[in-house]
Amino acid sequence: MDFAIKGDILYSKSLNKVVEYDNSYLICVNGKSDGVYKRLPAKYKGIKVYDYTGYLIIPGLVDMHLHAPQYMFIGLHMDLKLLDWLNKYTFPAEAKYKDIRFAKKAYDIFVKDLTLTATTRFAMFATIHNDATLYLMNELEKTGFKGYVGKVNMDRNSPKYLVETTNKSIKDTLKWIESCENLKNIKPIITPRFIPSCTDKLMKELSKIMKEKNLPVQSHLSENRSEIEWVKELVPRVKSYEEAYDMFDMLGTVTNSIMAHYVWPDENGIKLMKNRNVWVAHSPSSNRNLSSGIAPIGRYLREGIKVGLATDVAGGSYLSMFRAIEDTITTSKIRNCLYDSEYYNVTIEQALYLATLGGGEFFGKVGSFEKGYEFDAIVLNERDIPTVLMSELTLLERFERYIYRSHTNVYAKFIAGKKIV
Ligand code: GUN
Ligand code: FE
Repeated sequence: MDFAIKGDILYSKSLNKVVEYDNSYLICVNGKSDGVYKRLPAKYKGIKVYDYTGYLIIPGLVDMHLHAPQYMFIGLHMDLKLLDWLNKYTFPAEAKYKDIRFAKKAYDIFVKDLTLTATTRFAMFATIHNDATLYLMNELEKTGFKGYVGKVNMDRNSPKYLVETTNKSIKDTLKWIESCENLKNIKPIITPRFIPSCTDKLMKELSKIMKEKNLPVQSHLSENRSEIEWVKELVPRVKSYEEAYDMFDMLGTVTNSIMAHYVWPDENGIKLMKNRNVWVAHSPSSNRNLSSGIAPIGRYLREGIKVGLATDVAGGSYLSMFRAIEDTITTSKIRNCLYDSEYYNVTIEQALYLATLGGGEFFGKVGSFEKGYEFDAIVLNERDIPTVLMSELTLLERFERYIYRSHTNVYAKFIAGKKIV
């Protein structure tokens, strides 16, 4: 069904440029945007209009990296750094998803809560367990989400209650990919957890599957300094962590690739990241909670590296992409004053771009209201913001104030033209 939504419409054209259409109509035809108009064109006379007059409308937000199973302990266990945090809290929690009854309970809550947020697209980690992963994918599909979910692979350096043999990891991955062929909107993504938890043999086989099935890949890269030292010991023949993925063609040479965090780039490896068009998934909340560092996003933007924003639940302590936008800006300023003042702070225009088009391009034509883009739209509820001078603000200023002053769930949400909220 074709329809229009009416309100104050704001979206990114490019990294530093936004466009604003106050009191206008955004048209949806066959799940795609048919453009923004000040007055409803004659050819759309009679179509349904959702009237959000006075409300701010922006493209849906893209969460480039989060762990669905970890939502059960979100906001807890913030006392350790990455490797100890994984061993003490994360692995025991993920092991619970072997029990499908537990998994159903936990994933039902996760999907219900995610539905209310601004997130419309995502690339998500599940666990090593096929049944639980398929349940999660089916529930997300039913809700109307679009995005990628990965069955996680781990065949070394993992506790005995959360590890696979190499052969089982490969067999289960193939079975899982087959089992989700019937899903239309939730797609599989190859997901080696990170280099420390995957043997060379497993990486080789996953790379083969990735190529044969033409699937994208997601993993973690250079998040924590102890992790980077460990990778040097585990893979002594490569010069950088980046190369440890590149030697299995998992750095964007064959299919699209998302690498989470990338807090500590290697000076040679960073050239690979740029040349291979890899997406860096930036999670300022996780960077801070696990005291990993602050990824140099200003530098990546200047060097033309692709960046999307992420919550990284539950290293990140919120599901809200609005908060990821705020923290991207504020942590870039801390980094700027501590280390590299030659790199610019991330601006509100840039942060909006990163949370929409920046990550959106990974999913195709996503993250904009230009004609032909998938119709992912959210309507913001500005009721917590003082309305004094509201009429004198630009739409970008209203968005900025919303980001700093309000973290409410969305007032309405559409994904590929389907009304979700
Ligand atoms: N590196 C490997 N696994 C994880 C994880 O679950 N979370 C984060 N933040 N980093 C990881
Ligand atoms: Fe992560």
